[in-house]
Amino acid sequence: VRDDAATAAKYVSDYIVDRITVFAPTPERTFVLGLPTGSSPEGVYNNLVQRHKAGNISFKHVVTFNMDEYVGLPREHPQSYHTFMYKHFFSHIDINPANIHILNNNAPDLDAECIAYEEKIKRAGGIELFLGGMGDDGHIAFNEPGSSLASRTRIKTLAPSTLQANSRFFAHNPSAVPRMALTVGIATILAAREVSILVTGAHKALALQKCVEEGVNHMWTLSALQMHARAMIVVDEEATVEL
Ligand code: GLP
Repeated sequence: VRDDAATAAKYVSDYIVDRITVFAPTPERTFVLGLPTGSSPEGVYNNLVQRHKAGNISFKHVVTFNMDEYVGLPREHPQSYHTFMYKHFFSHIDINPANIHILNNNAPDLDAECIAYEEKIKRAGGIELFLGGMGDDGHIAFNEPGSSLASRTRIKTLAPSTLQANSRFFAHNPSAVPRMALTVGIATILAAREVSILVTGAHKALALQKCVEEGVNHMWTLSALQMHARAMIVVDEEATVEL
């Protein structure tokens, strides 16, 4: 638990820098990092960029896999997760563009795209550290309430709660939010060797309580992390009010 959102984000970014530094990746042994979008990780990306600019960390031998992407938005759409990632992170660091993986939301065969994504993760050696956030309804990536805890990367129809929450990026119009997304599954996330989740703000407090104090429940999908041997949730004070 950290005092506020900025301190929580700083903790997570310092943790990522430490993990990559200790791993000491090389071209033959890359560090595979799973990444989220959303407001919560923005501070993490800002800090990572600052530390990169200060010469503290290189991403040359880091391979990334993003968690999810809306279906149907052009890549260049201002609200695509592709745009978000380049704007907040990839354009400011020394990552090799060939090492960046984001689900292709305009692939002609979306099922095949999802299967191929799992294969790419496997070929990269699996994910070392998966960074994530949590939706107001307790979802992780776009694993909406009711998702199978054994799910792998697939197409998911978004829940009304998510359309409502994410409408703030679409002129506050829930019907402008894409109805579907491609997302890694719960089992994809649980297969990472380590998972770090950042949750901030009082609006996340109820979901956080459900996910960490109640049982594993497919209606609050972040609760699946209770089954992971090496998972950390970093929160600010505000997010703890229901604990
Ligand atoms: C979206 C993303 C999730 C993210 C959630 C919360 O639904 N698919 O990965 O955790 O939003 O985002 P925020 O951090 O903006 O509250």
